[in-house]
Amino acid sequence: MKESIKKASILVEALPYLQQYRNKTFVIKLGGSTMEDDSIVTGILRDAVFLEQAGIRVIIVHGGGKAITAAMNKAGLKSEFIEGLRVTDKATIGIVEKVLVNEINAGLVKKIKSLGGTAVGFSAADNGVLHCKKEYVIKEENGKKKKIDIGFVGQITDIYTHPIYRLLNVERIPVIAPLGLGAEGMVYNINADVAACEIAGRLKVEKLIFVTDVDGIMNGKELLSSLSIAQVEKLMKEKVITGGMIPKSKSMIKALKRGVQKTHIINGNIEHSLLLEIFTGSGIGTELYK
Ligand SMILES: Nc1ncnc2c1ncn2[C@@H]1O[C@H](COP(=O)(O)OP(=O)(O)OP(=O)(O)O)[C@@H](O)[C@H]1O
Ligand SMILES: [Mg+2]
Repeated sequence: MKESIKKASILVEALPYLQQYRNKTFVIKLGGSTMEDDSIVTGILRDAVFLEQAGIRVIIVHGGGKAITAAMNKAGLKSEFIEGLRVTDKATIGIVEKVLVNEINAGLVKKIKSLGGTAVGFSAADNGVLHCKKEYVIKEENGKKKKIDIGFVGQITDIYTHPIYRLLNVERIPVIAPLGLGAEGMVYNINADVAACEIAGRLKVEKLIFVTDVDGIMNGKELLSSLSIAQVEKLMKEKVITGGMIPKSKSMIKALKRGVQKTHIINGNIEHSLLLEIFTGSGIGTELYK
């Protein structure tokens, strides 16, 4: 009996959050880094289905970094990253598209359905949801700016939101693979953090949550649980933030500037990290504020 009462009081604790977030939209970015372990993916998606059932409009954007690297290794291709972005030549874009759409996206949709949720998956290029142009990385060397060609990596120029709204309005979870449609119908690889940020910014959603394989933004061993835009910019300059955390940090800043209320980074390897972040006062991970 005591145990049951405790469970009921936990449910009641969530009430103000359920009231606050009902009918609000959350973009959840699932990092490829957390998708290696089936039980972890199942846990995260079960939490996402819970949110959807609680009346929150959930959009999932997923990455696929680790699986893409593994598929490239298998094909005898080396992975190279500049500023956290994958250098994507013609052979690589074929692999990226195959892994993201046929494997990861399809797997996530199937899993959500098996958990009793309803989801529709698609490549953002197929539906023309994300339009893009070629992205270059600008690097400064000896005071001179250098433009680096990183291949078929897209910079989002326009978003066609209709397919996303249409799904949300019929209570489906859109599961979006981060590819973009470029000139001449060419498909481009878009960093999933950037795609999630652009979609969240355009839809002015309540929350943008990055689920990854670290607790949040770390300074050495210390977790930085709450940061301002200026602090994140400083950490990037000081190279405390590197690699895959760069597009994530830049995306968080951009999303906030575009009207997203809150952005978070959480560790998908922690059980129920998504629910803990949303339904408890203290939260976990790193929160970025304006
Ligand atoms: N200051 C930092 N704090 C935390 N992690 C950092 C920091 N600097 C760099 N990182 C790296 O960023 C990584 C997370 O980004 P990564 O791109 O690898 O994962 P993801 O975005 O979740 O997956 P995917 O790119 O497949 O979608 C961490 O595993 C860590 O190695
Ligand atoms: Mg990444």
